[in-house]
Amino acid sequence: PASDARAGDVGATTVIAHRGASAYAPENTLASIDKAAQLGFSWVENDVQRTKDGELVVIHDDSLQRTTNVEQVFPGRAPWKVKDFTAAEIARLDAGSWYSPAYAGTRVPTLKEYMCQVEHNHEKLLLEIKNPELYPGIEQQTLKLLGNQSWLDQKHLGRLIVQSFSADSIRTVHKLRPAVTTAYLGAPGVAQLRDYARFADLINPSYGSLSPAYVSAVHSFDGPHGKPLEVFAWTVNDAPTARKVAGYGVDGLITNKPDVVRAALGSD
Ligand code: G3P
Ligand code: CA
Repeated sequence: PASDARAGDVGATTVIAHRGASAYAPENTLASIDKAAQLGFSWVENDVQRTKDGELVVIHDDSLQRTTNVEQVFPGRAPWKVKDFTAAEIARLDAGSWYSPAYAGTRVPTLKEYMCQVEHNHEKLLLEIKNPELYPGIEQQTLKLLGNQSWLDQKHLGRLIVQSFSADSIRTVHKLRPAVTTAYLGAPGVAQLRDYARFADLINPSYGSLSPAYVSAVHSFDGPHGKPLEVFAWTVNDAPTARKVAGYGVDGLITNKPDVVRAALGSD
């Protein structure tokens, strides 16, 4: 829906750097989207959640444990849920050392900081609202922040897709801001696609649940903006799988290794 050609778009297949170029830099950090840009990719994916004091932050797990040094900094606070820490506390954490000492000192970005860097890098964003059931009102709050940073201006709408595993969350985003491109994460049965097409422009399934027939079925429905639904498959990190899934006719591949996917699809 939002694909103007640039390095990183391979023929008809858009390549999206999952959590940034997360095979090569710590996921969901400014370093990972800088790495995607350096490799020549325009689309990045991220995960958005909320702190105890209401700040939107970019992190995948509902706990800080795996991707930060929270256990050392706040030893008594297990299970270290994002929602139980303030933004100031999270700002003290190291989100890079777990990945490599070379990234020591990398922070968990706030969504505001993250969007500034996406803008700085001239990138495009597949924004995932993660665990929305934990954060009532996160859809409205996310849209407000995006609007404040001009991301909902007509001229920028082609650079943004909002996705979630929660159909309710995506329905809410569509209702609040019908102009925004939206994606449902999952593979609804063919009989359900007509309903999903009322509020989602894309259907983004795990590649393992795909077949050429399913991709064709998805393409046969028009989405809320009157264009055929598209399919971005995740998470494809090796060349044979990239070739196979691209052959199903998907519109995009979400990957930790965008360079590997680009090479597999034949433009390197
Ligand atoms: O963008 C698709 C993918 O991010 C969904 O899975 O767990 O990596 O957020 P996950
Ligand atoms: Ca995600």
